[in-house]
Amino acid sequence: MIDLGGRVALVTGSSRGIGRACALRLAQAGCDLVLNYLNSGVEARQLAEEVRQMGRRAALVKADVSEPEDIEAMLAFVQNQFAQLDILVSNVATGAFRPLLSTSTQQFNSVMGTNVMAMLHLVRGALPLLERSQGRAKVVAISSHGSDQALSHYGLIGASKAALEALTRHLALEIQQKVNLNVVLAGLVETDSTRMLGTEAFRAHTSRMMVGGRPLQADDVANAVLFLCSPLSDLVQGQTLVVDGGAGIHGS
Ligand SMILES: NC(=O)c1ccc[n+]([C@@H]2O[C@H](COP(=O)([O-])OP(=O)(O)OC[C@H]3O[C@@H](n4cnc5c(N)ncnc54)[C@H](OP(=O)(O)O)[C@@H]3O)[C@@H](O)[C@H]2O)c1
Repeated sequence: MIDLGGRVALVTGSSRGIGRACALRLAQAGCDLVLNYLNSGVEARQLAEEVRQMGRRAALVKADVSEPEDIEAMLAFVQNQFAQLDILVSNVATGAFRPLLSTSTQQFNSVMGTNVMAMLHLVRGALPLLERSQGRAKVVAISSHGSDQALSHYGLIGASKAALEALTRHLALEIQQKVNLNVVLAGLVETDSTRMLGTEAFRAHTSRMMVGGRPLQADDVANAVLFLCSPLSDLVQGQTLVVDGGAGIHGS
């Protein structure tokens, strides 16, 4: 069993979807939680209540991770309320499905700002706390197959995910001894951001999965995140762990 009792974790974008599942997994393992959200205050408060019912502390922070000032204020809140941060899950991503050839500079910069630069701001700002962690601190980012496959109308988000993975590897090199930084690359999970792809997309993904015999769930992703947040992964550094039931390596 993974016991993360006494550790404090911040999960960005935890009001819904994969971020929510990650927050619950970490709370089940014993973490106190800082839950970041932007618009879904009701869902975020419900999640905080669930975490508290598990006997953990839960603090809510409304912050737009695309805004460096918001990240700064969120980390100042963590310092004031907890004076500790051991785990950071950088989960938020943005971006519409559109062809790269009709993507504006503004759209490009906005997606890169939220999906890539936010991770750098978060890690840079959180480093003083992470370095004081008892044991190794853990940072996990969430990626997708857009980083290693060409997917229809996914070029901008895909490019941002490739950049996110490269950024994580280079941060791992720069930070070295103090912190583990890794990525979980998830296959297709039905959430609010993917539901519009339609049942055929999910059926096709599930049919390429070699294991599972069921659609991929946010909890499957959260399980991998939990591993990378635990001492079991202390010697895993700068890696991208793929959780897709083997769909991504299944030849057609
Ligand atoms: N779903 C998939 O199939 C899949 C596959 C691979 C990777 N991923 C990755 O997994 C991560 C989560 O995706 P998801 O499908 O779970 O998304 P989702 O269900 O749409 O949830 C997105 C979450 O991010 C928050 N958020 C969005 N913009 C934000 C901002 N600027 N600042 C702070 N919070 C913000 C939302 O908060 P509010 O609602 O409070 O605004 C919400 O909690 C993303 O990095 C995505 O690329 C997803």
